[in-house]
Parts: sequence; C-alpha cells; structure tokens
Amino acid sequence: MKARVFPSGFLWGAATSSYQIEGATKADGRSESVWDRFAATPGNVVNGATGDPACDHYHRWQEDIGLMRELGLGAYRFSVAWPRVMSGGQVNEVGLDFYDRLVDGLLEAGIEPFVTLYHWDHPQSVEESGGWRNRDTAYAFAEYAAAVVDRLGDRVTHWLTHNEPWVVAHLGHRTGQHAPGLIDSGEELDVAHHLLLSHGLAVEALRAARRGLKIGIALNLEPRSPRSAHPLDVAAARLEESLMNEWFLDPLVGKGYPSDTVEQAAWRASVVLDGDLKMISQPLDFVGLNYYRVEIVADPSVPEADRPQSALHPEEVTAMGWPVTPHGMGEMLALLAGYGFESIYVTENGAAYTDQVESDGTIRDLDRQRYLDQHLRAASEAIAAGIPLHGYFVWSLFDNFEWSFGYSRRFGLIHVDFETQKRTLKQSARWYQQVIAGNGLE
Ligand code: FCB
Repeated sequence: MKARVFPSGFLWGAATSSYQIEGATKADGRSESVWDRFAATPGNVVNGATGDPACDHYHRWQEDIGLMRELGLGAYRFSVAWPRVMSGGQVNEVGLDFYDRLVDGLLEAGIEPFVTLYHWDHPQSVEESGGWRNRDTAYAFAEYAAAVVDRLGDRVTHWLTHNEPWVVAHLGHRTGQHAPGLIDSGEELDVAHHLLLSHGLAVEALRAARRGLKIGIALNLEPRSPRSAHPLDVAAARLEESLMNEWFLDPLVGKGYPSDTVEQAAWRASVVLDGDLKMISQPLDFVGLNYYRVEIVADPSVPEADRPQSALHPEEVTAMGWPVTPHGMGEMLALLAGYGFESIYVTENGAAYTDQVESDGTIRDLDRQRYLDQHLRAASEAIAAGIPLHGYFVWSLFDNFEWSFGYSRRFGLIHVDFETQKRTLKQSARWYQQVIAGNGLE
C-alpha cells in the first residue's frame, strides 16, 4: 500500500476521561459524582465495577506522562472531573492542584493539553437538583468552567466544553444505560438543549476569562444506515441520524433546531427561551469529531419477511459489536466541513478487541492496529480532499473503565493490569509510535 504522509504540524494525540482513569474518587475533597452513584447501584455496570481504582491515574500521572512521551504524543486530551473542582458549590483548590500539576508535567514533556470540561461526571449534588433536566445546571456549569480556566487558562490553549452531549441525553435519559439511568424520561431533548446552552455559557465564560483560547466541542457523529430498503427502516434511520447529528450541529452554527425533526419527534421546545439559540451559536475555533462506526437502524414494526434483502451489512465487528466502517469517518468529516468548520480534530477514534497476551508478555492487538490504520487512511483522504483536519486522538491511551461495560472492554493502546496497575505498551502502541515518528502511514 502507498505511504501516506500527513501535513506538517498535524497533531498526533491520544484521549482519556477523568472518571474512566483517575480512580481516587474520595481523595482531596472530591465530591460524589453521578457516575459513582450510578456504578454503585447493582445491575447498572458489568460485574459491579466502579471508577475506583480504574487506572489510578490520580496517583500515577507522572509515570503516565512518561509513557506518553515514549509514544511521542504531540497532544493529550483529558477531562477535568467537575466534582473534584466544585464541592458543595465551593471551588476545591486542592482538586484543581491535581490538574495544575498534570498540565505542567505535560508541557514539560512537550505535550499539548486538550482539556475537556465535561465527560459525563457531574456532581451527584447537581443531579439531585435535577441534573441536566434543570436549566440551572447550565449556569452552574459555566461557573465551574470559569473556575477551571482561572487556574489553567494561562497554560492551556485548547478547550472542549462537552464530550458527546447526545450520549448524556440519550443513554442517560432515554435508554437508562448511563448515569443518571433514566428510562424514557421524556426529557431527552430538553436535556440536550440544556447541555447546548451550557456549552454556550461556558464558551462565554472562557472567552471572558482570557483572550486567545481555542474553544470547541466534541460531538459523536454517525451515519445511520437503514437495515433494509423498506421505507419504514429508511425513515427510522433518517430520523435517528438527524437526532444525533443535525440536532447538535444546526444550533451550534446558528441554524436553530432542524424543524422537520422537531416536528417528527413532537418536541414542544418549551425549554428554549429567548436568547438561548444565540448563546449556543457562538463562533467556535474548532470542532472535535468522535467517530467509531456506522449504526444500522431498523424500524421494529417491520416484519423480517417484509424486508428486501438489498442492504449491505458490514461483516467485521469489534468487541463492542460495532461494525468496522472507516468510510463513515470520511463522511462525517465532510459533513463538518460542509457546516463551515475551519478547523477539525478527530478527538476520539479507536476500538475494543480481546487482546492476546503472549507468554513473553507481548500484547498482540493486530485488530486494533488495523482498525486505526484504516481510519487514518480515511483521515488522509479527507485531508487530500481539502478538509481542514488538523489532528487525531486515539481512544484510548489506556484500557479503562468503559462505562456500563465496566472493565470488560479494552480500548487502550496501553494495556493496564487492574490488579497490579502495571502498564504495558501493546503492539498497536508500538505501531502508533512509528506513525507519529514518521508523520504518517507506511
Ligand atoms: C465514547 C466515549 C468514551 C468511550 C468511547 C468508547 O463514546 O466518549 O468515553 O467510552 O466511546
């Protein structure tokens, strides 16, 4: 295969999130998070796992920066845990100290920090006042954002307000697979609005605190492909795709919510107040794409026998059961470029597989390497087509707490033995090291 060299200055990174790696959930005044509560509730998470100790990164961050340096990472995307920073409405300076040290350590290692303010772990006390169903949470989020930028803004340039608001709204308030675990709450779209509003308020707070910051948001966008050519499958896929993609992109760029989807979803939009859409649509410096797969959608009312046998279904799936569909990443990058975003990063891309541990300790994960390689080829084609893609972050740097799957799914470039906390670079990590060193693929 042809070599693919990426543009000079292309940023090679890896990503993690606070609840998935930090552990130390009770250390230094951290308050309870909604995920501590959710994970501790029997039946919510595979094998009753919780975010403690996860990768114990809270204590092992220096060793972890050493591993990032070994990989040659140009950037590291991590999230700040809101409950470490705010406790009972007060700023917890000791919690901020942790991120302060981490940022200094990264900069010393020549690694650019990309800070995500919210990767799903809000304080349980906020949840008890209605969480994202309550408009007040958007204002509380902006206060928290102000506290973080006040401490880190002199050294951190790149900020992401939210990670995947669709997941919080949909999995947290409709299917109940994520915290706070509400099933068919009927408030999914209200929650999405409050998340977007809080994004706008946080952008405003960050910009008020400091000039020159680069601010964006990470969205999980997916093509949704109908299970068959049956008109009901086609319509179901179209609606779900719009609820996932346009629902967030349109208001962010000032187009408001997509009116046909609002109608089909029968959303009353009573939570949208004067000025909200303007607040949400402040210009962004970049956008982050989290991309994993194409999702196949079927309308449950269609009897199997009525489905034309035309649709193409990807054969290969990851350990999550997600199809391997790199072309979808190209489609989503083109979608973002079409929205006029002038700077795009892939802020997450990666796969869970069952790694093979050899007797000499080598960890073979050729499947993951192949998955990443295929997606980087799609990224390189997008760049060749003129799409302003400026960097790529592998999900994830480490095996970690994979939400409702607990520790049963491994996404890491680096294997973590959760008993001993030993870290081992997998073969994919060695391969990524070469990609970074050569600024591209062989
Ligand atoms: C994304 C999440 C990330 C991780 C990956 C597998 O949706 O942002 O935390 O769980 O999926």
